[in-house]
Parts: sequence; structure tokens; C-alpha cells
Amino acid sequence: MADRIWDTPEITGWRRVTAHAIRRDLDGSDRRLPLDGTWRFQLLDHPEQAAGDDWTGIRVPGAWTVQEAGGADLPHYTNVTMPWPGAPLRLPEHNPTGVYERDVDVPAAWAGRRIVLHVGAAESVLLARVNGVEVGWGKDSHLASEFDITAAVRPGETNTVRLTVVKWSDASAIEDQDQWWHAGLTRSVFLYSTGPTYLGDLRTVADRDGSLRVDVRVLGTGPVLPGGWRVTVTLDGRPVPLDTAHEQRQIDVDRVSDWWAEPRFSTVVPDVVPWSDETPALSTLDVVLHDAGGAELDRTQIRIGFRTVAIAGRDLLVNGVRVMIRGVNRHDFDPRTGRTVTAEQMRADLVLMKRHGFNAIRTSHYPNDPVLLDLADELGLYVVDEADIEAHDHAHEIADDVRYLPAFVDRVARMVSRDRNHPSVIIWSLGNESDYGANHDAAAGWLRRADPTRPLQYEGAIKDDWTGGLTGSDIVCPMYPTLAQIVEHARSGEQNRPLIMCEYSHAMGNSNGTLADHWAAIETTPGLQGGFVWEFWDHGILQRLSDGRPAGPSSSEHWTDGVAESGYRWAYGGDFGDSPNDGTFCADGLVFPDRTPKPAMDEHRELASPIRLSDAGEGKVRIVNRSAFRDLGWLNAAWELDGSLLPLTLPELGPRQEAVIPAPASGGDPEAEQWLTLRVSVGADQPWAPAGTEIARPQVRLRPEQRTLARRSGATGNSRPAEVDDDGLLVHAVFAAAPRLSLWRAPTDNDRIGGSAARWLRLGLADPVRRVTAIRREADRTVVDAVYETAAGLVLHRQTSRDFGPVICVQEEVTLPVGLDDVPRVGTVFHLGPGLESMSWYGHGPRDTYPDRHAGGPVGEHSCRIDDAFTPYLRPQESGGRHGVRRLRLTGPDLPAVELTMDQPRQVSVTRFTAADLDRATHHDELIPRPETVIHLDAAHRGLGTASCGPDTLPQYLLKADTYHWEWTLT
Ligand code: GAL
Ligand code: MG
Repeated sequence: MADRIWDTPEITGWRRVTAHAIRRDLDGSDRRLPLDGTWRFQLLDHPEQAAGDDWTGIRVPGAWTVQEAGGADLPHYTNVTMPWPGAPLRLPEHNPTGVYERDVDVPAAWAGRRIVLHVGAAESVLLARVNGVEVGWGKDSHLASEFDITAAVRPGETNTVRLTVVKWSDASAIEDQDQWWHAGLTRSVFLYSTGPTYLGDLRTVADRDGSLRVDVRVLGTGPVLPGGWRVTVTLDGRPVPLDTAHEQRQIDVDRVSDWWAEPRFSTVVPDVVPWSDETPALSTLDVVLHDAGGAELDRTQIRIGFRTVAIAGRDLLVNGVRVMIRGVNRHDFDPRTGRTVTAEQMRADLVLMKRHGFNAIRTSHYPNDPVLLDLADELGLYVVDEADIEAHDHAHEIADDVRYLPAFVDRVARMVSRDRNHPSVIIWSLGNESDYGANHDAAAGWLRRADPTRPLQYEGAIKDDWTGGLTGSDIVCPMYPTLAQIVEHARSGEQNRPLIMCEYSHAMGNSNGTLADHWAAIETTPGLQGGFVWEFWDHGILQRLSDGRPAGPSSSEHWTDGVAESGYRWAYGGDFGDSPNDGTFCADGLVFPDRTPKPAMDEHRELASPIRLSDAGEGKVRIVNRSAFRDLGWLNAAWELDGSLLPLTLPELGPRQEAVIPAPASGGDPEAEQWLTLRVSVGADQPWAPAGTEIARPQVRLRPEQRTLARRSGATGNSRPAEVDDDGLLVHAVFAAAPRLSLWRAPTDNDRIGGSAARWLRLGLADPVRRVTAIRREADRTVVDAVYETAAGLVLHRQTSRDFGPVICVQEEVTLPVGLDDVPRVGTVFHLGPGLESMSWYGHGPRDTYPDRHAGGPVGEHSCRIDDAFTPYLRPQESGGRHGVRRLRLTGPDLPAVELTMDQPRQVSVTRFTAADLDRATHHDELIPRPETVIHLDAAHRGLGTASCGPDTLPQYLLKADTYHWEWTLT
């Protein structure tokens, strides 16, 4: 075994094939031999231990940390902290080392050919042997290692391939991303063969003006490159001519397998359809290497797109147009395999993103499987392709540590060498959270020369000074700035580059508050161009409760709609006994571990709508086409008004044009509130959605509500004082628990991590002592005065209730003492008896909405089962809220319906859980639904913000120490 390569920051083992862009992974011919499947496996305690004869089976690709074969080496979650203490190169003695082995029948027809072993990904060091002969080693966990094994392999015979994977190495310290630590082979393994003369690399530059340049590198393994070969290139079947200025050069380098030659082809393709996120037009480039007699020696096919990326001043331009980056950060994740994802899964991720208005991905924080980029090309997603460099825990030392210099440059160079032909890749990223040092500038220097066609970015370079770090970043790409900071910077006159946030709007739990405020600012502030939401996935691993182990790759789908089925749960940090750990911080995505979208996805979808609607007065509305490149021809639309759908022919609008058109004639009660909704759907099939798929529902209010609460609820005529008990609590058959004041919510992840939850605890908001100070029964009403004790003083509550027969009308007034500000809610809570099953309401919906996250929930009539109104965040928290509810109706079999009407649009929630139930549970499976229904009617409810990582909500969504009035009726 190569001498202790696991703690030596060497980067390239002998015989590792130089990274290239020739696609061997897609080759379905007999030149490729897939090796995925079951392998022999054993787990050693450290890399110097000799393997024995005690084999078990393991699935490849597959991390051992989620398989039985991995024994006690289970997934371990840390954010920043390295899982072992001390200096990066002082590795722990226990260093799990997996030995994967299998027999391979290598075709006899491969005799005399060059044979290459391709290992898609191995964490974190790979040593390869064939028939007992060491064939090389490699690091860089999220890019393939390829080894020329020609000398070791015996075609026509059964050969043994052994891949030894060492978990901890010098490389671990630069792969310290915020995610689960796994180990093993996580992407596919295969062999391929080429002739001794073969296609070694391919570089294309295709501009939006149709100019195309193709550089092909031909390599030969003999002592000299044999003569007479020839390369032909076609684009969609049409020949691309050899560039006479560059014909071909043959260069001999003094190492075997380094004979190479380079032909260049170039042309100008007339009338190209430029590639963009909206119009992902691709062409097929076919490159064939022929021998002297014209026979095909080697061939590769890729799809390219004609597009130009440029920075002009502080604008990032695609095809000359300033585009908005509606991005999301995506990790490789799967709840059963940990990190292994199939092409189908990747497609499903990307389709879901596109259907929710995302047009960009940052491959946080390492290069993805090359198929992901094929899919991004095809579906139309811009990509920030990020190198596998994150030295988070030791960032400061490593960024300038010469020992790591080769690794920095190598990782960037290998990524670029593989991915440079993808039109979707518009920006390179030097990695993540590794401070900023000479190693970054070295990598940037290589990159600027190697690919001048794209900008590069690195957050560390601009972290301390948004006008500095010019060598390390062409983009101001901060993470989690406040809205005020980015707007101020854009207005400061100092901005010298585009500003696109590499991470923003942390999606942990019930989150993504103020996304609408962000986009309102981004769209109206020159210099701001969007960002990447953190992040797509909740990294909950499916865990079997019977033995606490990961369910593993071969288990079936034990989940429905975001919830793990009974006997299983979504595990987060600490659940596998992993220590140290960062708990739920890995559950911070827009989708659950099974890819069920959270309500925040609705919000993004609406904010990204290609059509915007606004009131133009006098019965007219303004329609804006917000696309960068397309007219509205690909969309269908229909008005929804007063419960009916009316077809609409969309006006002919080019990109960014607008028109004012008449709103449809409205009917109904002239005093009742009325909303006009545009149902926007895909009219012509898109690669990510068939025709008919709805993609947005922009709305305008045509008429405000003018009817009184009494008229709306029927609380008219003469009333009697409502009945209250000795404590002044309302008595009525429907209540399982009488209405009380509520000042608290089960802390969200944002509340908990952002510090609000601890403050509310100190203030005693969860269950304040209530004392009745007066009960007055007047002729037509009952007035109850009570105080609630908090650490900031007494909260005064007056409840006035009138009984109109079938309708009870309750007026509430609450005064918070000075100093009791920023409480989570001021409202009423009560329980209704068992048996209610369904709810319908008029307000925002259909899914959860909150004061600072309701753009994705159009106002209208909505309904659902009460059990489904609750969003099952991994760690239970405030959930199920509905914003701007005017009335609510609850029904159950054989029960009279209960109707609640609000004086004004109010925040309401209807669940099976009290706030205390939610607060107590640490995992969703611990929640036991109550048979009764818990109802909150809030006069005011705090925004959600994103304080688990980044800014809290904005001041306008905070509750002040003030007097609150609200009124509601119960029928
Ligand atoms: C960022 C980091 C991500 C993740 C996120 C918090 O600082 O780049 O990897 O840790 O914060 O969830
Ligand atoms: Mg980090």
C-alpha cells in the first residue's frame, strides 16, 4: 500500500488518469463494464490493519455508514466541528477503513486495449488494486478517480478489483462541510476500455452569436502517437470544420501515456437559439477519432448550448441580459443511502425546483454527479459549480497552508476539467467557508487562465469587505446578509460587482419569513440579482426505531407526505449516538427528507411567477411579463373570480413588457371583499412540466370588505350576557377547554436558535398565572377582567362576551406592560371537543402561511382535513398557521358545524396539539394527536424570520408592548 497517503497532503497517485471531459459514464456499449452491485466487504479499524478472510456483502455504490456491513460505524453529523479534536493531520487512531472487493470477468476482446477503472466517488481516500497489484490512489471525495489498469488486468480472465477506502485523512479537514459524515464508495464504479490511441479531452466554447470552438485532445499510450489518425466533429449531424489556423499539433512529453495531439475545430452556426434557463436549447456534438483507414477508434457525444456569460459593471449578464438568480443550494442527499443518488432522483429534484420557480443551483459544497449537470442543461437551471473545499473548522490555518496548496488548485482544476462543456455552469466556485488565503488565489489564478469564459466566486474572499477580494471573487456573494445591508451596499455607490447571495433565507423548520420582502427589494434595486436559498433538503436519515440503525439503501419507502411511518423516524444529529453533534441543524431544507415540499416552496413559487398582476384602477389590472427571454406564449391563464373560472387570452408581451387590461366583470355582494386570481399554467410542454401544470396564482383585491362582523356572523338583535364560570371563563358545550389569552407559540427552530425562545421562557410567557380581577354581568354582556403574570409585569386582559342565541360574540382587549415586547403572539386559545375532522376557511391558503410568509397562499376559500393542516417539521414546533383568516368552519360526522368569524383577517391555527405538546417533543413521532381540536385566533402573530442562521424577521413583523383589540364570533 502506498506509504501513508492518508495523512500526507499529496494529491495525485501514480496512474490516476488526468481529469477530462470525455463522457465514459454514459457509454452503453461493450467498451464499458458496470461494476455496481454487491461486493465483498470488510471494515478494518485503521488503514494499517491487514484485511482478513472475513467478508460480508455490501451494496455499491453505497456508503458503509448506512449499511449493515458498516457495523458500528454509523452516520455522524457535525456542522463546523471536526469529529476528532486536534490538528488536521493528527488523525484519530480509530480510522475506519473499508475494503471492497469483487471479481470481474474482463472481456477477452479488451486484450491489447487500454483499460481504465473509474470510481465515481470515494470518501475520503481511495487505494485501488487489481489482481493484488496497486494501481493508484486518489482523494477528492466528490469527483471520480480513474486509473489506467492496463498493466495489471488480464482480459479474458476473472480479475479481482479491490478498493480500499480510508475514512479519515488529511483531506477530511478540507471536506468539513455541514452535513453527515459518511464513508465508502458513494457513486458508481465501472471499467472502460479504449484503444491505445484515444480521445483524451474535449473543450468547447459556444457563444450565443453561434460561434463554436471545439478543442479535442488525442492521447496515445505507446512510445509514440501512431500516425494517420483523424478526428471528425459534427454538430447535430453537420460537420464542424477543422480550424486551419490551428490544424493539429502533436506534442511529445517525456512520460509514457503522455503523447498527445490537439486539433481545433471552429465554425459559426447560423440562427442558433441561445441556451438560457428559460430556453434550454441544446445541440448534440459528436466527436469521432478515426484510424488511418477511417475506422472508428473512439467516440464521445455531448450536448452543448450556445450562451454567453459576462459581467458588465455590477450586472451579471446571460446572453447580454441581466438575469435574476432564483437559486437554491443542493447537497447530494437521500434518506436511505445518505449520499448516493440516482439519475432519476436528481431529475425529480430539479423538476421540483423548476416547478417552484427556481432557476439556479449552487452545488453546495462539492461537484455533483456529472448527470446532474446534464439535467441542468436539459431542464434550464443555471449552476454555480463548487469545488470540494471546505476547511471550516481549521479555515484560518489551511487557507494559507502550503501543504494544502496543491489540493486547492487540484480540486478546482479537476472540477473545471470535467464540467467545462456544460452550458448550465455559469459560475465556478472555489469552495465554501475556508477563510481566504493564498491557496484560494492560486486556484483562482489557474482558473482565470484555464476558463476565461465564466466568472468565479468565493464567499470567503468578500466576507470582510464587499468591495475587496477581487482576485478571489468576481461576485459579491455573501451569506445571510440582512436585507438592509444588501440594499445599502447597492445604493452606496461603492458596489463594484454583481451581488448574488450564495446563501440566504435559511429554511430550517418553519422558516423563510421575509422572502417576499427580499424579492421586492431585489427586483427594485439595481445591483441586486438574487441568491441561493439555504437549502433544498432536510437531511433526516431514515432510522429504524427497533434497533436504532439507519434503515439502509435496500429498505422500502417507509414514509408518506414528509412523515416517516410508524417504527421509523427521520434521524438528525445525535440520533445515532454520534458525538459531538449539531442536532437538528442538518434539517434545514425546503423539502422533507422524502422530497415532500414544505409550504415555503409555495412561497418561492409565487414570488418567482413569470407573470405579475397589480391593480391599475378603474376596473383594470396590469399584467407584467417578468421573463428575461421569453414572451408569454408558453403560458395559459384563466381568471378565477367568485368561484368561477373564466378563460383569458394573455396579451402578447415580450420579455419585461407590461399591459393594462380590463378585469372581468364582477358580481356578488357589493359590500363583500372580492379577489381576482390569475391561474397561470404551462401552455406548451416544458422539459420540467407537461402542459397544464399550474405554476402561479397571482392575485389582486378588487374590493375590500365593508360588512360589519355582526352582519357577517349573524350576531344581530338582542344579546344576553354570555355564561362564564367562577373564574370568568366562558362556558359553552362546544369548548373542551375555555378560551384564554395566549402569548406564546411552540418555538420554531428560528426562535430557538435565534434566542427568542430562551427570552420567552425567562419572561414566563408559556403558561402565565391568570388571576381574575372582576366579573361583571351587564344586561346584554359579560365583562371579565383578568391579569396574567409575566416576568415583565402584568398583562391586562378584558373579555366582553355577548350571547345572541346561536352566536356568541367575544371582544378582547389586552395591554402588554412596557418592556413586554417581541412576544410570539397575542391571541385567544381554546379547545373544541372530539369528533371534528375537517376545516374550511376564507383567508390565505391552502397550506401554512404566516405574517411574513404568505405570498404563496392566495386568499380564497380553502379546505382540508384538520390532521393535514399541520406541517410535520422534524423537530416539532409552531406549525399549521393560516394567515389572514376571515372565517373558519369546522365539521365532523354527526356534529353540528362550528363557525368562527373574525373582525379582521387574523392569524389562525387549528391542530391536534397544544403549544406545550409541540415544545416537549424532539421528534415528530413523539407527538400524540389529541382527539380534541386546539384553536388559536391571534390578534397578532410574530413573523418567522430566518434567525436559525441569518437575519430575524423585519421590525414590521414584531409585536410591540401595546394594547391589542380583537373580536370574534362563534356559531
Ligand atoms: C452556511 C454554510 C452551510 C450551512 C449553513 C447553515 O454557513 O455554508 O454549509 O452550514 O450555513 O445551515
Ligand atoms: Mg460550514
